[in-house]
Amino acid sequence: MLCGGKKSYFAGAVCIIMLTSMVTFSYLRIQRLIHLPKIVQEGSRCRGQTANGTITPLKDNRTFIISPYFDDREGKVTRVIGIVHHEDVKELYCWFCCQPHGKIYVSKAKIDVHSDRFGFPYGAADIVCLEPGNCDPTHVSIHQSPHGDIDQLSRFEIKNRKAEPFSADFTVCISAMFGNYNNVLQFIQSMEMYKILGVQKVVIYKNNCSQMMEKVLKFYLEEGTVEIIPWPINSYLKVSPKWHFSMDAKDIGYYGQITALNDCIYRNMQRSRFVVLNDADEIILPLKHSDWKTMMSSLQEQNPETGVFLFENHIFPETITTPMFNISSWNAVPGINILQHVHREPDRKEIFNPKKMIVDPRKVIQTSVHSVLHAYGTSVNVPTDVALVYHCRVPLQSNLPRESLIRDTTLWRYNSSLIMNVNKVLYQTVL
Ligand SMILES: *[C@@H]1O[C@H](CO)[C@@H](O)[C@H](O)[C@H]1NC(C)=O
Ligand SMILES: *[C@@H]1O[C@H](CO)[C@@H](O)[C@H](O)[C@H]1NC(C)=O
Ligand SMILES: *[C@@H]1O[C@H](CO)[C@@H](O)[C@H](O)[C@H]1NC(C)=O
Ligand SMILES: *[C@@H]1O[C@H](CO)[C@@H](O)[C@H](O)[C@H]1NC(C)=O
Ligand SMILES: *[C@@H]1O[C@H](CO)[C@@H](O)[C@H](O)[C@H]1NC(C)=O
Repeated sequence: MLCGGKKSYFAGAVCIIMLTSMVTFSYLRIQRLIHLPKIVQEGSRCRGQTANGTITPLKDNRTFIISPYFDDREGKVTRVIGIVHHEDVKELYCWFCCQPHGKIYVSKAKIDVHSDRFGFPYGAADIVCLEPGNCDPTHVSIHQSPHGDIDQLSRFEIKNRKAEPFSADFTVCISAMFGNYNNVLQFIQSMEMYKILGVQKVVIYKNNCSQMMEKVLKFYLEEGTVEIIPWPINSYLKVSPKWHFSMDAKDIGYYGQITALNDCIYRNMQRSRFVVLNDADEIILPLKHSDWKTMMSSLQEQNPETGVFLFENHIFPETITTPMFNISSWNAVPGINILQHVHREPDRKEIFNPKKMIVDPRKVIQTSVHSVLHAYGTSVNVPTDVALVYHCRVPLQSNLPRESLIRDTTLWRYNSSLIMNVNKVLYQTVL
């Protein structure tokens, strides 16, 4: 555009208006939601203790910070994953620390409580702040006011600031291991199946588990497969093991599962090509491919605009067993031997099977458990002849006789490597 040179005052004014409106327009989408940062404490230094827990309460006891992440997919923002009381938390501010001069910029946050709260008063929230234009802050503090003493606030490192090469093709996120978890055999089998299918990393949000599980987790930590995120949510909130408030009137549902899943997406956004969201008793089993990598390249080729792949859950009841693969040394280990559960419940009329997901994390904005709430690009249902979720647990249709179940031995394709790998782990940990 031509601005400058000898022109009338009128032309100059038009030029200024055009430039201003261009700048304004580019910010419009964000500015409607977020206020531009202001310097409030020029010359004061960035101080405050760096928070070191996974869950940090603010002074209001109504806001809990998990972690801030840099997000430049739609403007330059810091997105803080947190937990808030949906009614009581109306105003929050990001205090950005700009180095090397130590200026503090404050910007008002847009607080977006995720719609999937299932009636509980506390829910996952994105606390989103526009960053100062002239610096790339490494740390941020969150406060209820634009005024106050920075020394009193905890500082959080802003993750995902620097681009890094992928360190994993597939990362599995296991949210909220709790209730003295002791399903050791099924856990090890799931881990070894994930590895056979192409996983490099399993992130576990750990609230609580048995001593024997601690040993197994230590093994996988040392192997480098597992990353443990401590998840002491019951120290701050009354947690429910149920998913809906009507079943159990507590502060937050299912040990804050949704918050953990969202944190896991952002934590792995730069590190992993794909993120897999399922529980430890679930395995996405490919039927036409031998592993997830070949399956996903084929699915991506057919669905180039898709960032979210949904797989149908199918129940293999732990009550229906086959004598095949009854491995005597395994009977000393607590938990289910999935190789002995190869009968699945039939579909029910009028009931949709829930889905689990493999996502490109860079295309996800907000996720729930069985679907993504906001994403760039589309979601696609993967047909059950391509893959399904093998889910071995208590039956949903417990009245059905064995003959009404569908015998499905897809898992057995992996029997020899699975048995060998599980034995290796068992003999190095609990046997
Ligand atoms: C972080 O941990 C250290 C030692 O474990 C502790 O002294 C410090 O107070 C903690 N910081 C915060 C903000 O809690
Ligand atoms: C916040 O919670 C802590 C621990 O439960 C309690 O000691 C403190 O009084 C609470 N503060 C407010 C402002 O409610
Ligand atoms: C784990 O939770 C159970 C109850 O769910 C409790 O009895 C046990 O003491 C907890 N263990 C630890 C190490 O906190
Ligand atoms: C496995 O074999 C043992 C010993 O033969 C038997 O007691 C047990 O019931 C079998 N378990 C299953 C699930 O088949
Ligand atoms: C176990 O796996 C091997 C190949 O690894 C296969 O030949 C065999 O048929 C499988 N067993 C069953 C019962 O499916």
